[in-house]
Amino acid sequence: MSQKIAFITGGNRGLGFQTALDLKDAATKVVIGSRNLEQGQKAVEKLRAAGVDADVLKFDITNPADYKSAYDYFNSKYGRLDILVNNAGIAGGKFPGTGPEHSAADVPLDLLDKVFQTNFFAQVALTTALLPLIRKSPAGRIVNLSSILGSLKLHADPNSPIYNAKSFAYDASKTALNAFTVHLAYELRDTNIKVNSAHPGWVKTDMGGEHATMELSEGGKTSAALATLPDDGPSGGFFHLGKPLPW
Ligand SMILES: NC(=O)c1ccc[n+]([C@@H]2O[C@H](COP(=O)([O-])OP(=O)(O)OC[C@H]3O[C@@H](n4cnc5c(N)ncnc54)[C@H](OP(=O)(O)O)[C@@H]3O)[C@@H](O)[C@H]2O)c1
Repeated sequence: MSQKIAFITGGNRGLGFQTALDLKDAATKVVIGSRNLEQGQKAVEKLRAAGVDADVLKFDITNPADYKSAYDYFNSKYGRLDILVNNAGIAGGKFPGTGPEHSAADVPLDLLDKVFQTNFFAQVALTTALLPLIRKSPAGRIVNLSSILGSLKLHADPNSPIYNAKSFAYDASKTALNAFTVHLAYELRDTNIKVNSAHPGWVKTDMGGEHATMELSEGGKTSAALATLPDDGPSGGFFHLGKPLPW
């Protein structure tokens, strides 16, 4: 069982695609989830051309029927899942911005609900649906794509670099995702499964925008490292490029 099986949601572009590229040398079959199959197939062609052993699964994280499809796919083909990268996510607005979605006082509740459905509830639902297969892995790894913007400690500190970078709906959804990381890691503490939150950096993707400070080629490193942690690696942490971040 030397080849590992990985599932990266939202793997057709941006950080999910880059993370798939970065798993090339990890003896890993990388299955990217893509809600648009055609775009997913194009991404797989690029990944294979780069030497990644890649496949695509049509997958929309807000469609509950797709959780069962994903379970059935990995169960029937491999009988287990070694790596789950919960990467798919939405900003709910433009970064940086001043729209109501960024405001705690004015946030439209339907927008808050949509961002939480995608960035939090769906991540929990998919992870719990696939957990029986991850439990069958000899070294399961779950990576939740959070953000430094989910850090309550840094948001509350006037001297922190993100003090003025407040985007309420997105930030709160990532704080909630971090809570999932801590709680799930606690429950799985006596297993071979590690659960961690990743902050990839501020990365030039469609979401990160052109002013982001990190190139896409660097942006997958945190996710890939947490997806391939050794047996003595951490669980229940929040990391950026190997360094812990405050919750
Ligand atoms: N870029 C940054 O600076 C940054 C910083 C911190 C954290 N993050 C986090 O990193 C993750 C990836 O971000 P990114 O910058 O790569 O964003 P992106 O360029 O906007 O790509 C987002 C990916 O998620 C997919 N996605 C969105 N909604 C989905 C749904 N309902 N079902 C399935 N897939 C869906 C998109 O698919 P479609 O192509 O079909 O839309 C796309 O593949 C996100 O969780 C984000 O919050 C990013």
